[in-house]
Amino acid sequence: MIYFDNAATSKPYPEVVKTYADLCTNLIGNPSSANGLGTKADEYLEKARKQIASCLGLTDFDLFFTSGATESNNDAILGYARRHKKEGTHLLTSLGEHASVINVFKELEKEGFSVTYLPLATDGKIPSSLLKENIGPKTILVSLMGVNNEVGTIYPLEEYASVIKQFPHVAFMSDLTQAIGKVQIPYNCLDLFTMSSHKVGGLKSSGLLGVRKGISLEPIIFGGGQEEGERPGTVNVPLACSLATALRIYLSSQEKRNEKAKALSDYLRKELLGMKEEIMMISPEDCCPFIMNFVPLHVKASVLVEALSAKEIYVSTRSACSSKKKGGSSVIKAMGYNESIYDNAIRLSFEGDEEIQEGKEFILALRSLLKDLKRI
Ligand SMILES: Cc1ncc(COP(=O)(O)O)c(C=O)c1O
Repeated sequence: MIYFDNAATSKPYPEVVKTYADLCTNLIGNPSSANGLGTKADEYLEKARKQIASCLGLTDFDLFFTSGATESNNDAILGYARRHKKEGTHLLTSLGEHASVINVFKELEKEGFSVTYLPLATDGKIPSSLLKENIGPKTILVSLMGVNNEVGTIYPLEEYASVIKQFPHVAFMSDLTQAIGKVQIPYNCLDLFTMSSHKVGGLKSSGLLGVRKGISLEPIIFGGGQEEGERPGTVNVPLACSLATALRIYLSSQEKRNEKAKALSDYLRKELLGMKEEIMMISPEDCCPFIMNFVPLHVKASVLVEALSAKEIYVSTRSACSSKKKGGSSVIKAMGYNESIYDNAIRLSFEGDEEIQEGKEFILALRSLLKDLKRI
């Protein structure tokens, strides 16, 4: 099997599965219970939180465990906008964001907020001058991701933060789901950040919301006082601990994974660029080496993905959350491509442990399928 769909979900590390299974069996208390088992569970929970803060290098953030980046994005954006509405009703994001960001902003428009969706250049980038031009006196929140999940464009968060700092009434939030463990992240420049466990060798339905100390959010669900009332509901301690394990392993291998992903991505880019008659490269040359997006020019992407699957080569057409919806890639559309392109993209995404040999096998299979499928 060749698995090039890590941006959709990564294989959990065996240590993560073991942590989860062991704790599910041996740590049965509710961390909010006032008995000995509850206290023990709470100690594990707080230890996981501390370990995560330490391996991300955070000193000034409160961390909340959530059901994944989708929930964290909802918590952060809805929570910040609603709590700070009196200070302003303008919000800023980009057309390149994940559905769990864009669709939250669409909801806020229904509540009376005005939202500016910054366009993307053909390489997926957003110049910081454009950001600056669009911040006004009523702006309270800017949300821009770290790495684009479909085309791999890396966003200069530090540069954006230095623009945003000129407007003290504006908070900066970043969806770091595809960035953590892949690029360097300037946490100190952010007010809010989100991530997902299953993109870093962890388990599904687990994520994190980081909130700079002193920033207040309105909760979006209501219940008991767990997670300081920001995210009520009994915390799944084994899941929280398994996220700490995943991050420890994923981050400690960042350099090595980057090197391997870069070698594979350089090899694939060279091969795909050599197939000019058949393939159009979408990802910019300086993109994150873990994601590569291209368009087959004479074959339907969905047919190609299925044919590759039959050979046990797994890739995707676009963001897994949207790939079953019609309408093509909204990111590639925002980059200015026409429908025949944005409706036909293929995304390869890597873990960073793949060998070049897998790339060679992929190219071999791709060449042969492009020939066969064109004939049909
Ligand atoms: C950039 C980005 N944000 C958010 C999400 C949603 O993550 P989750 O599956 O944890 O809800 C994804 C998942 O693909 C993503 O790529």
